[in-house]
Amino acid sequence: MCGIVGYISKDGNPNSLRLGVEALKRLEYRGYDSAGFAIWDANKKDIFCQKAVGRINKLEEKINNNSVFDNPVILHTRWATHGGVTDCNAHPHCDCRKNIYLVHNGIIENYKELKEQLIKEGHKFSSETDTEVLSHLVEKFFKGNLEEAVRRALSLVRGTYGIAVISREDPKKIVAARLGSPLLLGLGENEYLIASDPSAVIAHTKKVIYLDDGEIATLTPENFFILKEKKPEEIEWKLEEAQKGGFPHFMLKEIMEEPETIENALRGRLIIEEGRVKLGGLDGIQEKLRKINRLILVACGTASYAARVGEYMLEEYAGIPTEVDTASEFRYRKPIVDKNTAAIFISQSGETADTLAALKEMKQKGILTIGITNVVGSTQARETDAGVYTRSGPEIAVASTKAFLGQLATLAMFAVYLGRQREMALVMGKRIVQELAKLPELAKETLKSAPEIEKLAKNYKDFNNFWFIGRKYNYPIALEGALKLKEISYLHAEGVGAGELKHGPIALIDETFPTVAILPSDSVYEKMVSNIQEVKARRGKVLAIATQGNEDIKKIVDDVIYIPKTLEMLTPILSVIPLHLFAYYTAVLLGHDVDKPRNLAKSVTVE
Ligand code: AGP
Ligand code: GLU
Repeated sequence: MCGIVGYISKDGNPNSLRLGVEALKRLEYRGYDSAGFAIWDANKKDIFCQKAVGRINKLEEKINNNSVFDNPVILHTRWATHGGVTDCNAHPHCDCRKNIYLVHNGIIENYKELKEQLIKEGHKFSSETDTEVLSHLVEKFFKGNLEEAVRRALSLVRGTYGIAVISREDPKKIVAARLGSPLLLGLGENEYLIASDPSAVIAHTKKVIYLDDGEIATLTPENFFILKEKKPEEIEWKLEEAQKGGFPHFMLKEIMEEPETIENALRGRLIIEEGRVKLGGLDGIQEKLRKINRLILVACGTASYAARVGEYMLEEYAGIPTEVDTASEFRYRKPIVDKNTAAIFISQSGETADTLAALKEMKQKGILTIGITNVVGSTQARETDAGVYTRSGPEIAVASTKAFLGQLATLAMFAVYLGRQREMALVMGKRIVQELAKLPELAKETLKSAPEIEKLAKNYKDFNNFWFIGRKYNYPIALEGALKLKEISYLHAEGVGAGELKHGPIALIDETFPTVAILPSDSVYEKMVSNIQEVKARRGKVLAIATQGNEDIKKIVDDVIYIPKTLEMLTPILSVIPLHLFAYYTAVLLGHDVDKPRNLAKSVTVE
């Protein structure tokens, strides 16, 4: 995925470029291997384009601050899919006559055949990207009206796109369009913006319109219009939430916000006296949910590990057969579903291409689709039949942390909601809801071990390989802990069910290959202790996550991080916090860019 910004003001603005670059910086977490802009130069009656490999500051270094431009301006920060990371492949891309300039997020799946046809028609290409075919296609249909040319060009395209386009010969406008990649309009007092997500526009306006798939928007200094009328929505985020707030990295800020994230997810939803939860987003499907006898949870990456925790919760407490699949696999399966199956899609961004494709497949089959989503107004939030917002606020760091806890808290509430529709008695519902209400405080207590974890990271950062092991509710936490460590420290780390160790993985254990073992005092604690003994018998170093008050564990492991006691089903919400901190401190010690790790992007809106 990548970041797109467009800006046009009603009465010209000499600071348009500076303003556009600042907005683009808020999107840098979405992809950052190169950047560029194209801007209308009213004096020369021409478009000026500048591109640079590297972070946005490399592009800034190329800007001649004495130049005065006007607007519109379009800007892009890239996460390459087709063509290497070079100046030439950076966006914007232009046509043969340097009339059309375009930025794009997504993949043009039929770009090869389009490119061959355009070359036959005499077009000259300069880049290796799929995107460049769009600028030549628009040129092919351009007869003076930019939006008409864009509309006709896109009718030939297969794939996904979020685009913004400007033209020298139809200058005072930006045309934007989306299919599968997020794009919104920001409606300011004297200006209009285009952006990939709200964080780029909240400094200017909170009034936004999320484009739907297939829509084409045209922005001029006087007005904007979209093929289909949309009512503005209000962004709930505050500007400061999307900034670092004094922390060295967004990731640390977001880990420290985990208690508040749990609180936000729970707020107004726990009805303790009645031992139930209220999930307003499900009101419209409440009766349908009573008939559901099978659940499929679909997600990617960290969200899929939340789904795996949810699987245990929903089976044990709602008594509904539940399965989990990663979206990139699920979308190609032939799942056996019927009218009493519901599919729950979990996504922080609500824009993950694989998850959306799986959602589309389930809608095609007429299955009830439910979203657990963080970003308000995202495609998943709008495409599912119903859903629950996790209310985690903007998550900027590429490695997902607080959003994961929001997902777990929401899934725990789902289990109570569905359980109380079925066999769960009031007393059990009350027990769980009371314990849920304590979690924000217990999470705050867990965070107090941060300095100790920072010290521990120093002792482990020079290892190159790690096992993360857990059982039952904490098996998915082993998977999440491993993903977090590897994706920001670049050390090799894998999660495995502790019971699986002896079936092969234990062959790797020796003094150079430490194990992180997650074993709160729960129903599988003794089994975990046996697995740790197996590791120690092979001289493996063990770092344990255990429940406060458990002194025995110190006798068999090398290091312990304690978490407060809670219900077994809720331990993942606490046990993951030290693992997020461990990954963060390790990556910082290794000198990596924690918020924007190499090769990654925050929301994978391409397949
Ligand atoms: C999380 O640390 C990863 N960056 C990644 O696995 C992420 O969880 C995955 O891409 C799913 O994103 P989503 O929740 O926005 O759908
Ligand atoms: N597919 C385009 C390219 O590789 C756009 C990638 C993106 O979304 O950043 O340039």
